[in-house]
Amino acid sequence: MFLHGTSRINAQGHLEIGGCDVTDLAKEFGTPLYIVDETLVRQRAREFTEAFRKTGLRFQVAYASKAFCVMAMCRVAEEEGMSLDVVSDGELHTALKAGFPAERIHFHGNNKTPDEINMALDANIGCFVVDNFTEMQLLNSLAQEKGKTVNVLLRITPGVEAHTHDYISTGQQDSKFGFDLGNGTAFRAVEQAIAASNLKLLGVHSHIGSQIFEVEGFRMAVEKIAAFAIDIRAKLGETFSVINLGGGYGIRYVEGDTPLPVGQYVQAISDAMISSCKAADFPLPEIWIEPGRSIVGDAGTTLYTIGTSKDIPGVRKYIAVDGGMTDNPRPALYESKYDALLANRANDEATEVVSIAGKACESGDMLIWDLKLPESKSGDLLAVFCTGAYNYAMASNYNRIRRPAVVFVKDGKADLVVARESHEDISRNDLIPERLRKQAVSR
Ligand code: LLP
Repeated sequence: MFLHGTSRINAQGHLEIGGCDVTDLAKEFGTPLYIVDETLVRQRAREFTEAFRKTGLRFQVAYASKAFCVMAMCRVAEEEGMSLDVVSDGELHTALKAGFPAERIHFHGNNKTPDEINMALDANIGCFVVDNFTEMQLLNSLAQEKGKTVNVLLRITPGVEAHTHDYISTGQQDSKFGFDLGNGTAFRAVEQAIAASNLKLLGVHSHIGSQIFEVEGFRMAVEKIAAFAIDIRAKLGETFSVINLGGGYGIRYVEGDTPLPVGQYVQAISDAMISSCKAADFPLPEIWIEPGRSIVGDAGTTLYTIGTSKDIPGVRKYIAVDGGMTDNPRPALYESKYDALLANRANDEATEVVSIAGKACESGDMLIWDLKLPESKSGDLLAVFCTGAYNYAMASNYNRIRRPAVVFVKDGKADLVVARESHEDISRNDLIPERLRKQAVSR
């Protein structure tokens, strides 16, 4: 069993995270419960910022809030000196409400609506990452109406696609995101951005994939982007001051996952950037990156209560928990693998192989296939690890199941950062039209 961050097994044989015994957390907050190891989140953030500091380059580490966007997380991101990448008015609203400095917010997305753009313009955010020509025109005209000039990066698809382990250097053209580098679209986009009256072009952005375990793809992307920047300077006399390389740094979900230490990704990016720029006597740009999963992923654990079980002799034993695809859709969506532990009897010997089922009315609602566990019974606690990224963020109310609470744990203290949804929350936005209301029976 691999325990992340401050997780350990205490003298009672219980899982403890951030100095909090999870059996106590279950009593206090109920289950399912997302538990976030705040110390580990901060450690991950520092690994990125410290690795960059060592390179001597100017940089911004922008937390990709899509991985887990709640106000307390925005506070931690700010305290750790990160910028913030948002992709919707909802994420922007969350960040602003948490008091996150607007000038450190970057707005992404392939279809920002006029309302979203206006909201971001009014908030004076730091930068828009422009995805396409329609948006470029819209942003320019809305900025003009407000008499503002806004910083922009252009999202380009550099022709490097990461499939976690291998890289295809032509495959990325067919993407809904960004301006294609290979067919000249990115070049035209730069020309238009320079000409736009109310846009200030800082540079370009690329994101090559997610859950990447090697540096090769990042290196290839840097080389292609640097070559583009050099070409733009030669042909248009415009020098990019920022290059944003997106996110995608992998984490260890299960045995066999082999992410690199964060510093190695940063080093590879910096080395590639420095050597490409030196060769062309190009001034070193500021490097921005956008890690999401690698900041919060392994800091999250979901605690469930085991309910029913079903043993099909010779076939499989199902153990059902009080959550499932509604709080973690990733196994159903991506066949993602997770590891788990019987949290209230963590030292017991694993004697059986079981499959962990969720409670939604859908056969596909399975969290883990073939997990070795001690014999469990109803009321035991199951901790599923590495659920910090894209779990709460992608949770749903399917079957009208309520979204769980989220707690931050640190130094023996647990703080509720998202309350569990109530039954009332579930029907809060429902309306019954007059004609469907129950009429008082007239006699
Ligand atoms: N920047 C951009 C432009 C992105 O599109 C993404 C992720 C990130 C940064 C952060 O990537 P990360 O460091 O977290 O890999 N729901 C999927 C992941 C979708 C990622 C989308 N973009 C999952 O659960 O695996």
